[in-house]
Amino acid sequence: MGAGIAQVAAEAGDEVVLLDRSAALVERGLASIGTSLARAVAKGRLTERDREAIYARIVPRDGWEGDAFDVDLAIEAATEHVATKLELFRQLDRATPRETILASNTSSISITKLAAATSRPERTIGMHYMNPVPVMKLVEVVRGVATSDDTFERVTAAARRHGKTPVEVRNAPGFVSNRILCPMLNEAIFALYEGVASAEAIDTVMKLGMNHPMGPLELADFIGLDTVLNIMVVLHEGFADSKYRPCPLLVEYVEAGWLGKKSGRGFYRY
Ligand code: CAA
Repeated sequence: MGAGIAQVAAEAGDEVVLLDRSAALVERGLASIGTSLARAVAKGRLTERDREAIYARIVPRDGWEGDAFDVDLAIEAATEHVATKLELFRQLDRATPRETILASNTSSISITKLAAATSRPERTIGMHYMNPVPVMKLVEVVRGVATSDDTFERVTAAARRHGKTPVEVRNAPGFVSNRILCPMLNEAIFALYEGVASAEAIDTVMKLGMNHPMGPLELADFIGLDTVLNIMVVLHEGFADSKYRPCPLLVEYVEAGWLGKKSGRGFYRY
């Protein structure tokens, strides 16, 4: 998702630094941006000249290189792992100027908790883009308990500049998007687990019956089953309510390393 966010920001004219923890990961991000932009050129939505200009606005960087990271807005899009994100927010707090806004693309981790790892909780906020970022119009803008109005307004303006529709949400487990989406995906997995119908049948019901572009099992594979499980755990622990318990089949697939599309196998084979 980091690559997708870098792409929409560069398309909007922002100068972007794409930072990851190794040269190989940065290369992978740039390659996915390259493919997406090439598709836009092939479809006549972008000129070759614009493609080159957008690509040139993205400066790759692998690692912190003595810490200084001079940006107006940093958008973190690391894996959904609390300790990893807390460490990244401490690092961002050390590396960026005091005025820099620190945003997280987290899909469920508390913004208030991430903000408390920094010396600037008033300038820390959630910017939750949806996958695939270049296509999906929403950014959930999540206010932690200390997020200032100024930070909210600047981030909302950035999301609009990126061609998105920002929606204001208060910090709460799963925010709005995943509080509603992930229990639906988990319920589809329960239906499969209990033998109510095949994976294909469950997805067909939701695609043809509810006009969803993807069935819930296909969508879970697309998001990543580890991510779906992490979000269910956050909901289950955050609300202390058994209605959010992760389906045992989801837990077992993640244990098996069947993480969906990215690992080649989930509810479907890729
Ligand atoms: N990057 C850029 N563009 C992409 C893309 C990508 N990764 N994937 C698809 N597109 C573009 C295509 O180029 C195409 O553009 P045009 O219409 O201009 O030609 C358009 O999207 C439609 O693509 P396709 O025709 O290939 O396929 P499709 O019609 O089946 O659409 C889809 C693909 C947009 C992914 C659609 O299936 C969909 O909307 N699925 C649901 C996605 C969803 O629910 N996302 C949210 C997930 S939850 C999340 O992200 C948050 C979280 O915290 C878990």
